[in-house]
Amino acid sequence: MKVGVFDSGIGGLTVVKSLLKHELFEEIIYFGDTARVPYGIKDKSTIIRYAIEAVEFFKDFEIDLIIVACNSVSAHALDEMREHSSCPVIGVVEAGILATANALDDKNANILVLGTNATINSKAYEIGLTNKEFKNIESKATGLFVPLVEEEIYEGEVLDATLKHYFKNLKKPDAIILGCTHFPLISKAIKNYFDDDSILIHSGDAIVEYLEDKFEFSKKYKKTKVNFFSSENTDALKNIAKKWLNK
Ligand code: DGL
Repeated sequence: MKVGVFDSGIGGLTVVKSLLKHELFEEIIYFGDTARVPYGIKDKSTIIRYAIEAVEFFKDFEIDLIIVACNSVSAHALDEMREHSSCPVIGVVEAGILATANALDDKNANILVLGTNATINSKAYEIGLTNKEFKNIESKATGLFVPLVEEEIYEGEVLDATLKHYFKNLKKPDAIILGCTHFPLISKAIKNYFDDDSILIHSGDAIVEYLEDKFEFSKKYKKTKVNFFSSENTDALKNIAKKWLNK
């Protein structure tokens, strides 16, 4: 199995990390649109246009599946990507909704959805969770977490002040959806803010759960080959991959 992983930039590496951990694929072609990141502040039509270009990019590689690691793209452009792709396209939003439903028995549980402006404005998580009969969903756009993670700020006073800025008026959640590629890197700080016992839904783990449910994987691949591509400065992407994935 050869898979294409698409993200707006480097954040999708958190999803690659989960794919590698579960040894699902022989080869991963990663494409990050680093020249045009962030997508999370762009509007739907722009995100769709960029996402269709990503489908075109993957056409040279004969892949079996495209995984959209970017929540902002998954929330806005999955249908359009599917229309343009000859292989299946799956996204982290759908997977995150299913993972949340699997993790929570109580339909009255308090669910907090975090994401970029684009993801939160789409209401994609809210609609999906409401369809699964969850009643208490709160969504919060927390876009400042993206540049903080890119600055490798995973703890400390700047992050603490940002957490307070976003979370001070929220009720304690039973589950938190980390609806952005970058948020797993500050999951500890997010969890700590709310006293540590909320369930966290991580896009990478959710997509693995989704894949294992929908497809049959007969083989494990201990040495997945990962090829990195980006629209700008691939060396910078590879350097981050070395740090985040040891690749
Ligand atoms: N990859 C994006 C997401 O998961 C975050 C970065 C961006 O705004 O492009 O929504």
